[in-house]
Amino acid sequence: MPSDKNNKIPFNEDNYTHNIERNNERKLDRRGFMKTLVGAAGVFAISSLPWGAVAAKELMGLGEKEYPHKKITDVSKLAIGDAKNFKFPGDHDDAILIRLSEKKYVAYQNACTHLRCPVFWVKEEGEMICPCHHGKFDVETGVPTAGPPRRPLPEIQVKVENGAVYAVRVKRYEV
Ligand code: FES
Repeated sequence: MPSDKNNKIPFNEDNYTHNIERNNERKLDRRGFMKTLVGAAGVFAISSLPWGAVAAKELMGLGEKEYPHKKITDVSKLAIGDAKNFKFPGDHDDAILIRLSEKKYVAYQNACTHLRCPVFWVKEEGEMICPCHHGKFDVETGVPTAGPPRRPLPEIQVKVENGAVYAVRVKRYEV
């Protein structure tokens, strides 16, 4: 006959967990969890910083955007002082290239920064003019010099390669 002792359900004190301090265990768990949480937040904040800066730059119009290079014209087809209209970066983005000297070219998106009328190069006057409200822009910088426009024309960076002029990127205006 088995002894009484073997059939007895052990008291709570007799099970093997009685010596674990559950409160401390929970404290450690909470502390560990908080550490993990803070660590994860830190990693997230650090990893997202550069992207936040990039996004802010884009939203403020300060970023430069590079697009596939686009041929505007052959150098031989554009005399000094002349201009050529083209589209960049998209097929609906009007732009203008002006050759100022043997090696100096400037290009801008030529929608007026007032109400988006097209801006023209007037060679005889050496000025970029918007006929809608007599706006004027400095041809060297795209900065408005007269009339209602307050912001410069977005500049398009160009490069000359193998006897042709290419549009490379849109330089956003700086505030
Ligand atoms: S749209 Fe160019 S000056 Fe008004």
